[in-house]
Amino acid sequence: MRIVLLGAPGAGKGTQCKRIVGEYDLLHLSSGDILRQERAEGTELGKKAQSFMDSGGLVPDELIVAMMAGAVSKAPESGYVLDGFPRTVNQAEELGKSLADLGQRIDVVLNLQIDDKAVADRMTGRRSCPKCGAVYHIENLKSKVEGKCDDDGAELIQRPDDSLEVVSNRLATYHEQTEPVVGHYNEKSAVCDIDANESADSVTALIFDKLNALVKA
Ligand code: AP5
Repeated sequence: MRIVLLGAPGAGKGTQCKRIVGEYDLLHLSSGDILRQERAEGTELGKKAQSFMDSGGLVPDELIVAMMAGAVSKAPESGYVLDGFPRTVNQAEELGKSLADLGQRIDVVLNLQIDDKAVADRMTGRRSCPKCGAVYHIENLKSKVEGKCDDDGAELIQRPDDSLEVVSNRLATYHEQTEPVVGHYNEKSAVCDIDANESADSVTALIFDKLNALVKA
């Protein structure tokens, strides 16, 4: 199964992706995680991406498209979930061309819908594990021991782009450049809208219902 997960910053894409890949044995391909890894390793791509990420803008399409086309081409037959990609209509069109070359197609597009006013709270309260990528929230999804990852005990960190100012830029970028991607997929195939304002477990239940129906069809 090949899934695209769309949604504003803080809609819960990363949180839900981890649950989906666990349930359906898929690969999680997060453009944000790959970029953060490139930055941590000090690669040319990481250096080029840095200023765009820190300001809340988008990394240029040509860099992202090449990076994600490489990741998709190496993905296993069982499939994957694309998290944070595509983020512009141009990226979606380029993804379509790469998939056509591979004889593949996207089976479902899940669109996590969240109210803008919930985004700041989710972002500023987010804490992440630098070792395994697990995501927590200081109020909504607490770790068992404050400040430590449940899985490996690593010290949790706050992402530098989760400051209020950068979050507001990221949200504006989302409305301007990423929302039109929903329209792009609506023209081609049905997009499943999911109310992401609910609790993480309720959102997971909604997603699993959709995916189970798809698997059975
Ligand atoms: P990226 O890492 O993709 O960031 P994002 O899209 O802004 O999404 P986030 O990871 O911030 O949020 P999320 O939806 O995954 O929410 P999460 O599950 O963590 O991108 C970072 C940057 O990289 C971009 O700004 C851009 O510069 C660049 N980039 C990446 N891809 C690109 C591309 N394709 N093109 C160009 N540039 C690109 O949840 C958030 C918090 O809420 C957590 O604390 C969580 O515990 C909590 N939470 C989750 N769900 C719920 C719930 N239902 N109820 C309550 N709390 C919840």
